[in-house]
Amino acid sequence: MRVVELIEKKQHGKALTKQEIDFLIKGYTEETIPDYQMSALLMAIYFKDMTPDERLWLTRAMVKSGDTIDLSKINGVKVDKHSTGGVADTTTLVLGPLVASLGIPVAKMSGRGLGHTGGTIDKLESIPGFHIELTTKEFIAHVNRDKIAIVGQTGNLTPADKKLYALRDVTATVGSIPLIASSIMSKKIAAGSDAICLDVKVGSGAFMKTPEEARKLAEAMVQIGNDAGRKTVAVISDMSQPLGNAVGNALEVIEAIEVLKGKGPKALTDLVFELGAQMVVLAQKATTVAEAKQLLKEQITSGKALEQFQKLIKAQGGNEEVVTTYELLPQANYQFDLPATTSGYVNIKDAEQIGLAAMLLGAGRAVKDDEIDYGVGLVMHKRIGDHVTAGESLLTIYSNREDVSEVEDKLYGTIEIGEKPKLPPLIYDIVTTE
Ligand code: URA
Ligand code: CA
Repeated sequence: MRVVELIEKKQHGKALTKQEIDFLIKGYTEETIPDYQMSALLMAIYFKDMTPDERLWLTRAMVKSGDTIDLSKINGVKVDKHSTGGVADTTTLVLGPLVASLGIPVAKMSGRGLGHTGGTIDKLESIPGFHIELTTKEFIAHVNRDKIAIVGQTGNLTPADKKLYALRDVTATVGSIPLIASSIMSKKIAAGSDAICLDVKVGSGAFMKTPEEARKLAEAMVQIGNDAGRKTVAVISDMSQPLGNAVGNALEVIEAIEVLKGKGPKALTDLVFELGAQMVVLAQKATTVAEAKQLLKEQITSGKALEQFQKLIKAQGGNEEVVTTYELLPQANYQFDLPATTSGYVNIKDAEQIGLAAMLLGAGRAVKDDEIDYGVGLVMHKRIGDHVTAGESLLTIYSNREDVSEVEDKLYGTIEIGEKPKLPPLIYDIVTTE
């Protein structure tokens, strides 16, 4: 096979075969195919798209490029949840214990945050003592005993995707539906779960800026998952403003605990029930979404979901008393309110800027090796469409620096006060193949 002919084939919009895709991915991973040829191929895919078969083969080739996790020693249907990333997305932190409290095994491998989006692992590490390093044996034993464990990414999963993602980043080929879908799904499939619940975010704080784009991505991922034998469902949800009120690691842990106590903010709680119900149905613990939601609500009212979170914290070395004593979590030295400069209705131009403001405070990483300041961040007091009067606090800044003028400028630059804006829906749609 000659690479140049395969590039030309895709350039003309023809479908590649499984053998051709395997050859390309293997060659690129083993560095017998150079970056310049792969760049040209990626650009051809960007313009000419891929068929459902090609997408599946590409995903499988990337899975095959590295290690896969074997969860077969864990009893029950393993359901993984994945979010395409957003601001104040505390759902994983809540869903893990909530779903596990129903006896559904949650064997979660999670990532660290980068840029304006936070990572579940960073949030958990803000709990004093909590550690995310478990051997595979311990990981499986914890899930079988407690129904839940959350660990950092280990092993050499999907090295082809790592290389391709870095190349796409510098060749303007990240924003391609078949490439994004296969990238995400290869990682989910390699991580070994039986079923997958996807939260595809749409809006200014997300990767996909319009509902149409988000739907295409959701459909592409659901199709790949189901074709690969993993039952997959996608919820398309809003990210035109932070999902919860808290942005920042310890602040989001507190918010997650509040949701588990039944006292969390509405949008976050509603999305947790929607995603959780899909997971419960995928795990075959309920036959309808309505029945599943009822089960989940009972776990919160009875306190079982919160107990499950304590169990998780304790099992991984953390101080489980944080659920009653928030002061045990890292604190910021200063708090500043951001007052509304005028009266009117709140709108948020670009939710990503709010995530970036929290990052500037030290809650996130600008580059991979940055240190995180666990106690800092923001707590929003207003959502899109809320009325404010001049002088009223829009949000509170938690900082370890006295000078937060740069952060305030960023926030004032994206929070507008004026006419009543159109309210975004929380959930746009649920995508399944049936
Ligand atoms: N996230 C991924 O993991 N891959 C992509 O291609 C885009 C977002
Ligand atoms: Ca720690």
